[in-house]
Amino acid sequence: MAIDWSKLGFAYMDTNCHIRYTWKNGRWDSGELVSSPYFNIHIAATALHYGQTAFEGLKVFRAKDGRIQVFRADMNADRINQSARHIMMAEIPPALFQEALDRVVKANQEFVPPYGSGATLYVRPLLFGSGPQIGVNPAKEYTFIIMVTPVGAYYKGGLSPVRAIVLDDFDRAAPHGTGHIKIGGNYAASLLPHHLAHEAGFPVELYLDAAEHKYIEEFGTSNFLGISKDGKYITTKSPSILPSVTNDGLCQLAAHLGMPVERRQVAFSELADFAEIAACGTAVVITPVNEIVRGQQVIKVGPAEGCGPVLQKLYDHYTAIQWGEQPDVFGWLREIK
Ligand SMILES: Cc1ncc(COP(=O)(O)O)c(C=O)c1O
Repeated sequence: MAIDWSKLGFAYMDTNCHIRYTWKNGRWDSGELVSSPYFNIHIAATALHYGQTAFEGLKVFRAKDGRIQVFRADMNADRINQSARHIMMAEIPPALFQEALDRVVKANQEFVPPYGSGATLYVRPLLFGSGPQIGVNPAKEYTFIIMVTPVGAYYKGGLSPVRAIVLDDFDRAAPHGTGHIKIGGNYAASLLPHHLAHEAGFPVELYLDAAEHKYIEEFGTSNFLGISKDGKYITTKSPSILPSVTNDGLCQLAAHLGMPVERRQVAFSELADFAEIAACGTAVVITPVNEIVRGQQVIKVGPAEGCGPVLQKLYDHYTAIQWGEQPDVFGWLREIK
């Protein structure tokens, strides 16, 4: 099947196979590549009833010389185990995570899009309780799979800004809840506000802290970052936001480029003071946000058209590292041979 890489969006496509491991009696098996995208699951599996499930998202890039490189997979291996610990699932040894990744990517090499297409291979690790349990208890059996699917370049032209909305009737995460981990339930809870935001014409929603609705937390599926008028990179600090791999990388890059970096509480009332604002995450890297609406309040930030210069510079440098066009000074890439 010939794939038109330029037409790909962010959608699921079947590939050759996924990889699947099972944890039983205290140990992981040696895993197998499975060509069917279907899974035979026990009707009392804890993932289905009690949401004992966590996932990750990362990308694999084809460099100019044809090499296949994975971007910061160690961070995702670490984060899925933080999720696992919090909802009492079996952890995945980091070496097993990397082995699984290598095996599944190699078995799907022809789905790694060519250099220059802007498309990438999206990698989705998933860990869930597959053993039966009728009381609310952790499962005694776990399944770890990694599936892959090619996804298209998000920006076909330049970075284009979006409008964001604050929906004060919804919170993403409670102060001592599960906002800092990547579990299925967080995303189930986000479906309705996301739908409502979309219906109102906003591609992204911005969440405030649940206790006071005073501080910025993050966007629905991405962290918040702002560039101050004096050129600082400012991002939110909260125990209930997801530690984004992209935000971590952009902070390192900004510091490397000589920008002061601040990770602190950011009040909603500060928004209008920023020169540029964006959402950041693996799927898109940087989405500039030029307008935030909350009730009757409309806050405009950055240039009316297009993307601000600092965000553009960070985006260009960060993605050039991913594609192997800039030196990998931070050691973020690992070749899959
Ligand atoms: C709630 C939330 N915040 C932030 C992010 C961005 O994280 P990352 O940069 O690791 O993709 C994601 C996406 O994974 C997310 O779902």
